[in-house]
Amino acid sequence: MLHARIAVLVSGGGTNLQALIDAQHSGIIKSGEISLVVSNKSDAYALTRAANADIKTVVIEKKGNPFFEEQLIEKLDNEKIDIIVLAGFMCILSERFTRHFENRIINVHPSLIPSFCGEGFYGLKVHEAALNYGVKVTGATVHFVNEIPDGGKIILQKAVEIKEGDTPEVLQKRVMEQAEWKILPEACEMVCKEILKGEEK
Ligand code: GAR
Repeated sequence: MLHARIAVLVSGGGTNLQALIDAQHSGIIKSGEISLVVSNKSDAYALTRAANADIKTVVIEKKGNPFFEEQLIEKLDNEKIDIIVLAGFMCILSERFTRHFENRIINVHPSLIPSFCGEGFYGLKVHEAALNYGVKVTGATVHFVNEIPDGGKIILQKAVEIKEGDTPEVLQKRVMEQAEWKILPEACEMVCKEILKGEEK
């Protein structure tokens, strides 16, 4: 195998997907290739980013779909995906799903886990919670995904300073720029490299 086949799962704007695409183009990601982008929302801007980069996309709606995970697993298996990157994917995955792809799913979370994480902590809510608590440092974490929301083994973390007068939006942007968009591609390359090594044995 020359490259690990990467699937990126998204729900929204897709700036982390963009960081992965850019990292592939610049050679930061060299052991993997983004082969598929899956969105649970048909209007996610991330789909446009994927199409612009000539990456295959698929929409699997979750709302009102009792077969969401079955369809997701089928698609990922059919596409022979080696690693799944959750990049702003706002769905919690069941134990059945996480076991099917054990040690093959990574997620980026916009805080320093174990702070401000778990069920209910996603997107801007994470930054609101950090500001309400009054912490002076926050950051981002990339971790493996298991059955516990934000509970899998940590791969990389990066701290980001909180400044006087920060709003959740301002803080979110700083955390993305200084942490998420850097550590997600780095962690993705690390895991892809390990997968390739495992294949050689
Ligand atoms: C990112 O900040 C990501 O860390 C967060 O949602 C945002 C998605 O932005 N994910 C979570 O909160 C997951 N618990 P993006 O669509 O522009 O990448």
